Amino acid sequence: MQPDFEQLWNALPQPALLIDGSDRIAEMNAAAQDFLAASLSQLRGRPIRRYVGETSPVMELLAQARQGRGSLAQYNIDLGWAERPPQLVDLVAAPLHESDGAILLTIQARSMAEKMDRRMSHRSAARSVAGLAAMLAHEIKNPLAGISGAAQLLAMSLPDSERELTDLICGETARIGALIDDVERFGDIPPVTRRPVNLHDVIDRARRSAEAGFASHVRFIEEFDPSLPPTAGDADQLMQVMLNLIKNAAEATPEIGGVIALSTSYRTGLKLALPGGGHEGLPLQVTVSDNGRGVPEELRHDIFEPFVSSKTVGSGLGLALVSKIVSEHGGVVECDSRPGWTSFRLLLPVWDARRHASGGDVADREPG
Ligand SMILES: Nc1ncnc2c1ncn2[C@@H]1O[C@H](COP(=O)(O)OP(=O)(O)OP(=O)(O)O)[C@@H](O)[C@H]1O
Ligand SMILES: [Mg+2]
Repeated sequence: MQPDFEQLWNALPQPALLIDGSDRIAEMNAAAQDFLAASLSQLRGRPIRRYVGETSPVMELLAQARQGRGSLAQYNIDLGWAERPPQLVDLVAAPLHESDGAILLTIQARSMAEKMDRRMSHRSAARSVAGLAAMLAHEIKNPLAGISGAAQLLAMSLPDSERELTDLICGETARIGALIDDVERFGDIPPVTRRPVNLHDVIDRARRSAEAGFASHVRFIEEFDPSLPPTAGDADQLMQVMLNLIKNAAEATPEIGGVIALSTSYRTGLKLALPGGGHEGLPLQVTVSDNGRGVPEELRHDIFEPFVSSKTVGSGLGLALVSKIVSEHGGVVECDSRPGWTSFRLLLPVWDARRHASGGDVADREPG
């Protein structure tokens, strides 16, 4: 069967626009027309700057992609379109070869979770959120200890057969206490000190610890690129990231026949455009995949949000922590899931002594 190009283009679920060499809209697929609530006949031939605004990061991304002659991604940008309120999206600009500067621009909407995460990753905001959480946790713990102590005293004066309600109070106060401990730990992540980190060492440590504990029923498959250069970051925090991803994978896989695949690879090409110019390459790729039941459909857009969990005993903080640590490392975490196969992918920068050894942080940038 010879697929019809137009059909393929319109069947693509991801909004995509073709921008010509003079920044005019040449084509839009059906998903883009939906997403931007505009039809191709209205927009064809019109300059894109008229809709996104002269100073939009989109214009800069297009210019940079043309100069660099390679695909350029920019994550977490506010895309305004005409009069509509801005939406948080990821953009990828891919120049088409031999076509006078034409660029394929694809749009990926970001979830609420990531919007929140972005706000939280803002340094001072993160600090005040952490401070507030710590204060609140402290203030809740004191009366909670009182409630649980009083329930225990009350229980002593009751016959065994009537302790059902006092047991409930004790059980639930213990659960709130554990939740508060989690929240306190969440606020407690120290800022990243960047050092060269061998990702294979981190993955290996996490795998061994998992095998000895929560993942003892799982078969591990490893596929490592032996020449992978070190990343820049904090080995303990990255270990936390791996442990959380492996734990989720182990919890999703069946009791018998569970498989977790850990892989690393080096992928050139994808660059993260930094706001205000310059870009950072994120060529180190680590994936944790499992053959489990997949992320429940209704949670798919929210799993990185704190307190989102499908588990009876989950706090829902695992992936929020993963996303926070990875973004503080200047990296990106993505999830791709369907029943029977789920994959979490980390993209991380390479250690560069010139930039990282001086104690620089994520805000460092290369000249564009
Ligand atoms: N590998 C996976 N397969 C299927 N679903 C997953 C996977 N990883 C995460 N999820 C879904 O995402 C939700 C959120 O994960 P997260 O790690 O943030 O919290 P949790 O595992 O429920 O609780 P905690 O990590 O605090 O014990 C999970 O409850 C689960 O529904
Ligand atoms: Mg988890």
